[in-house]
Amino acid sequence: MLKVGVVGLRRGSVFVEIFSRMPECQVTAVCDLRADLAQAMAAAHPGAAAYTDYDVMVDKDLDVVVIATPVQSHVEQSVAALSRNRHVLCEVPAAGNLQDCRTLLRAARASKGKYMMAENGVFWAFVEAWREMVREGRLGKLLHAECEYIHDMRELIRGPDGQPTWRAVLPPIHYCTHSLGPVLSLTEDRCVKAVGFSTGANILPGGPIDMEVAMFQTAQGASVKLLRGLIAERRPPLHYYSIYGTRGVLETSRSPEDPVGTTLAMFRDVPNLPRMMKMPLGLTHANVAWPVAALGYGTAEIVMVRAFLRSLLDDTRPPVDIATALNMTVPGLVAHVSAERGSAPLPVPDLAAEAEAEEQAKEEAAKKK
Ligand SMILES: NC(=O)c1ccc[n+]([C@@H]2O[C@H](COP(=O)([O-])OP(=O)(O)OC[C@H]3O[C@@H](n4cnc5c(N)ncnc54)[C@H](O)[C@@H]3O)[C@@H](O)[C@H]2O)c1
Repeated sequence: MLKVGVVGLRRGSVFVEIFSRMPECQVTAVCDLRADLAQAMAAAHPGAAAYTDYDVMVDKDLDVVVIATPVQSHVEQSVAALSRNRHVLCEVPAAGNLQDCRTLLRAARASKGKYMMAENGVFWAFVEAWREMVREGRLGKLLHAECEYIHDMRELIRGPDGQPTWRAVLPPIHYCTHSLGPVLSLTEDRCVKAVGFSTGANILPGGPIDMEVAMFQTAQGASVKLLRGLIAERRPPLHYYSIYGTRGVLETSRSPEDPVGTTLAMFRDVPNLPRMMKMPLGLTHANVAWPVAALGYGTAEIVMVRAFLRSLLDDTRPPVDIATALNMTVPGLVAHVSAERGSAPLPVPDLAAEAEAEEQAKEEAAKKK
């Protein structure tokens, strides 16, 4: 039985529900600064103790720590768990600046615990289907992708105390993993160059940036455009993706009538196709029958948690391991810096490769001695 502790009980409540239904897990600890949330969650899950202090919880006998607190706490809390050799499943994005990315990477490499970023978009049913079509070669070589995540969260940018919340101070393009995650996962690509642009704060003067947009070049030679907005007018929220290859195109519908993930496609291999065809793909997996799905959480989180647990039990690489997590997180951080510097093109560092090279160099120097 893996003992699981969950911190941050708003988004984290999803994980409490899922982990507590996994036969190989028991949720033994729940933590939130808000004692009422922690106590209510513990009361609803027998065997779970309530904590309001993460430092106290992380010292308890736990195998897995799930982190669903604001971005600004992700690295500190992940490092605290990894340094105690706990496995970590941490919400997105992995970190809020490059220095923190390096700190997290060091901790993940040094730990006996495994780190995974909880990028649920990679596990959405339509993204899995797209990956399969790309793997089968239906699109040929990927040339260009576009992704947008526009979610009007105006009601969440001030807390009950009237103060800006963590969301208000996060540059919108820092929250890039739901967009870049699915796109990069199609061919395990990574961004190598970024150019960012910012609109500034017009919707709420003095408040968060309205929108940021970035262009990236990838290691495999594709271009990617990403648009992010957190207060722009648009309902329902939009997750949009398109991907062009040498032999075809996949695109999600922009219609507010269509469920997220509804796919329009055209393949050179299909003869006599006069226009894009519509595929009723979506977020939900047809083959995941599970009570949590009925709780309104969708199925991607369940598939993601199962994949994470499989990597722990089989001692294999988690699907969104630290290197992959940074490949999905770092481009947004660099794009924001680019926007601040007048949209200068900037290299996107491959932090995992840099760390590996550094380690090898150290080993070789030690051998020479
Ligand atoms: N993958 C997704 O689809 C998805 C959806 C929503 C949120 N998220 C991510 O989940 C995380 C949390 O988002 P949210 O919407 O629940 O935020 P929120 O601000 O609504 O809630 C955060 C909770 O964490 C608690 N908290 C804050 N700091 C804490 C600390 N140091 N120790 C213990 N508890 C602490 C707060 O009291 C609050 O209850 C963020 O990283 C966000 O990016 C991901």
